[in-house]
Amino acid sequence: MLSREENESLTKVGRGTPMGDLLRRYWHPVAASAELINRPVKAVKLLGESLVLYRDRQGRPGLVGSQCAHRRMSLALGIPENEGLRCAYHGWLYGRDGKCLEQPYEQAEDPTSTFKDRVSILSYPVQELGGLIFAYLGSHPVPLLPRWELFVRDGVLRDIGSAVIPCNWIQIMENSLDPVHVEWLHQHFYNYVQERLGRNEVKGNPVKHQKINFRVFEHGIIKNRLLEGETEDNEDWKVGHPVLFPNILLSGSTNRPTFQIRIPVDDTHTRHIWYTCYARDDIKEPQEVIPYYEVPVPGFDKEGEPQWSLLDNNSGEDIAAWITQGEIADRSEEKLGLSDKGIILYRQLLKQECERMQRGEDPMNVFRDPAKNVVLKLRLEDSKLNSGSFRAGPRRQGGATKYSPVLNEQERAGK
Ligand code: FES
Ligand SMILES: [Fe+2]
Repeated sequence: MLSREENESLTKVGRGTPMGDLLRRYWHPVAASAELINRPVKAVKLLGESLVLYRDRQGRPGLVGSQCAHRRMSLALGIPENEGLRCAYHGWLYGRDGKCLEQPYEQAEDPTSTFKDRVSILSYPVQELGGLIFAYLGSHPVPLLPRWELFVRDGVLRDIGSAVIPCNWIQIMENSLDPVHVEWLHQHFYNYVQERLGRNEVKGNPVKHQKINFRVFEHGIIKNRLLEGETEDNEDWKVGHPVLFPNILLSGSTNRPTFQIRIPVDDTHTRHIWYTCYARDDIKEPQEVIPYYEVPVPGFDKEGEPQWSLLDNNSGEDIAAWITQGEIADRSEEKLGLSDKGIILYRQLLKQECERMQRGEDPMNVFRDPAKNVVLKLRLEDSKLNSGSFRAGPRRQGGATKYSPVLNEQERAGK
């Protein structure tokens, strides 16, 4: 249980708040590269800041404040040019560094005008890696963009799923430190969903947890579970899988790992990205475009009836748990038990890394040495997917990849 003040300081993401400042020490995906193919200018929100992402006519991404410095028209309607983004209203042009490069009327009436040199808008560094466009909103010097294995691995097909979840990001992260929910939400509740849908596809022989364990490692927290009937030699117990500090869960298996990346849009919305790699022997070249798909968010219909058909997969069930905790869960009312020790450890780690940052040190997973950032390798247990009905339902629709074009194409091809 937290006091109201502690809950606030844990969950707020604006500039100048403890967690908002900590989150600004990291690169965050702000869009998939594929999102800008048919729409080169896109309004985006990240950590409570309204921004405009665009690709200039040379193919370079840029990220600037949403309003024009002149008379505040939105740059979401801006025109991308060779050297930046031009405001639709009176044609002021801004470079990728936010500097005003042209003010057509000012220069027409007074060719000696230096007005533009005194005008700039907010801009942030952006970089592309593995089909994602990352932004950095924090203090300088800017750290390296982490080259996590999934972003740079060869011999895989990739796809990127996304949804904006209407709740605070910490709820989503805490779910990743809560292995026991899998037993209930993804088995017993799943079976009830099947019943509601009139389907006869229940998960038989539900598994039970014997014990759970968590430990801090150099990149975050490793979680381990021992299921009833398994021995301590099982990889779930011996290897486990990691939560990368501060906001990425690695799930899946070595041949199909998924990063679940939770990016705070603002205090009450989180962009969730499912970044999946599918190992394939026949893949020699990286995909030209990594496919992007949207994952539906389950809710309730007008009569208050849950949208059962969106709850027949792990991701739909997880999302339902997250959003029905409330926009920002009231942790002054929670009652934590033994199943919640991972959540307590994660909160401690957030606090500890916040204090490190406040002392002027780099928090965990801020990288500055290129030699240590060639490939950031991670180990993942392999047994989990084989544990009977534990993970995937009978339709092999384990989670958000249910909506994936790559998975569907693979399944059609019988791979
Ligand atoms: S408001 Fe943008 S150029 Fe005038
Ligand atoms: Fe889950």
